[in-house]
Amino acid sequence: MTERTFFLIKPDGVERGLTGTILARIEAKGLTIAAMDLRQVQRETAAKHYAEHAERPFYGELLEFITSGPVVAGVLEGPRAIAAWRQLAGGTDPVEKAAPGSIRGDFGLETQLNLVHGSDSEESAAREIALWFPGLA
Ligand code: CMP
Repeated sequence: MTERTFFLIKPDGVERGLTGTILARIEAKGLTIAAMDLRQVQRETAAKHYAEHAERPFYGELLEFITSGPVVAGVLEGPRAIAAWRQLAGGTDPVEKAAPGSIRGDFGLETQLNLVHGSDSEESAAREIALWFPGLA
């Protein structure tokens, strides 16, 4: 079944010049990029995006980080796109959870600076796509 998911290349990924490498992995997997742009995240968008983490101790730092520089935001399409993109990204902690071969496993060292984001469910994907790409049907 074709699905859509939302992805971000976070400020650390853009800053480190990993945008091309990450997009190449997305394309090599066979996922289609349905929408994408480089943008500076407004604090209000970041707060809505990460609302479920509002009570976590790292929330303030997370908002600072995600608004600290440009991100690449986009929508991926394909069969089981949500799980496929999460597999490509790897677990949240790039050292303890992300397998070698995944983006975080290959390029990350810290949980906050974990390079990419992916929606974790159909509900999150719908919510995040509506927030970041309200014009997308
Ligand atoms: P992401 O998949 O975008 O979802 C929430 C983000 O919060 C996560 O990636 C990390 O960037 C960040 N995060 C999660 N846990 C921690 C933590 N323990 N310390 C710092 N940042 C975290």
